[in-house]
Amino acid sequence: MSEYVVDDREMPRFRVNRDVMVDPEVFARERDAIFEHSWLYIGHETELKKKNDFTTRTVAGRPLIFARDAKNNIRVWINSCPHRGAMLCRERTGNARFMTCFYHGWTFSTAGDMVSMPGDDAYGADFARPDLAAPPRVDSYRGFVFVSFDPGIVDLVTYLAGATEYLDLVCDQSISQMHVLAGTHEYSIKANWKLLVENSVDGYHAVSTHQRYFEMVLAARGSLDPSALGASRAVDLGNGHAVVAGAPATEGLFGRPLSESGVAERDRRFAEFRELYGDGWVDRMKGNRNLVIFPNLVVVDLVMGVVIRKIDPIAPDYMEVTAWELAPPEEGEELRRQRLDNFLTFWGPGGLASPDDVEALESCQAGYGGRKELGWSDISRGMNKSAASTTDELQMRTWWRRWNELITGEVLPVEEQAELEEVFTVGRRPAEASAANPAG
Ligand code: FES
Ligand code: FE
Repeated sequence: MSEYVVDDREMPRFRVNRDVMVDPEVFARERDAIFEHSWLYIGHETELKKKNDFTTRTVAGRPLIFARDAKNNIRVWINSCPHRGAMLCRERTGNARFMTCFYHGWTFSTAGDMVSMPGDDAYGADFARPDLAAPPRVDSYRGFVFVSFDPGIVDLVTYLAGATEYLDLVCDQSISQMHVLAGTHEYSIKANWKLLVENSVDGYHAVSTHQRYFEMVLAARGSLDPSALGASRAVDLGNGHAVVAGAPATEGLFGRPLSESGVAERDRRFAEFRELYGDGWVDRMKGNRNLVIFPNLVVVDLVMGVVIRKIDPIAPDYMEVTAWELAPPEEGEELRRQRLDNFLTFWGPGGLASPDDVEALESCQAGYGGRKELGWSDISRGMNKSAASTTDELQMRTWWRRWNELITGEVLPVEEQAELEEVFTVGRRPAEASAANPAG
């Protein structure tokens, strides 16, 4: 039995040992067992707009260059010179046909080839000029680019399992392609990275932790009807991925109200989607979703805004967070204004919600100082239900079972759930069907 996760189906009760939030050995084990063998998000294709655009990122401790080469291919390189290791790209972002190492001047193209080395006659005619190194696997799903440092890992779509369906619900919100907007949020939290994974799919905390935010929304809207949110479901998507999905076709409780022209534009957009995809799929698109892709990628789609969140463990009690806003490039001024307003006022590191989450997580971390007397956290909510909802904790248990499997080798059975209602399963109408039967 795992010393970290106790999954008691009898009582039922699910507990996690607080040592996993503090212990440097567990942290090191996560690096080896999880981050060396998962697909990890590096960035979105639309961040690289032109040929030879690049940006630097850190993934699983590696300094990386995320670039578009001269032939428009997305490339990922280890940001280290094959000569003696200096970082080739020392700028956060830019555009360059060639990358020249500042130490001795070796130069490489964005396709990774060595282009020149000063004084190369000192190396001899047979000297094999080294090219840039790359992560063994790079792949993308609808613009989301992932890397893996495990050459033998399953392909990305197999890995993503049921999460592709929820990425589709996000990506279909543009008729061309969803774009990452300029203006990234970066912040850090003095807490274990797993606490933010939990928090990102935790519907239970919203009303108590974010009271101030909802007061602001209430003041802006004049009324707030929580029952308008409707029924929701938490879903195990396989491989540790999980989602909490709000009821279809609800406008939700988030954001300041739209003007009349904004409402008209939004309705126009969704009417167009109905033609393309069918009503059932569009109703699902109009419900909110918080998706966690194991281990550290979160996509929060509250329809009025979509956030991609990458959570990087730095130390057992310290993480760094990067958040990007995803938007349909064709949306008009009013919807864009509302989207950016929500990105700032709700999700922003100085907004009305994220600082409360940061405070809660740092408070948990501080609380673990008492773990000798109080060693276990409880994640049992909704275990006695056949249909877990957004405010239950099935989504976290799903993630933790995968964590436990990779760390300890113990495989825990999937939690049985009642079949999802049809409103949560209806698919996108195939393209031919929409052309032949636009009303269907
Ligand atoms: Fe890059 Fe020497 S370390 S050229
Ligand atoms: Fe929160």
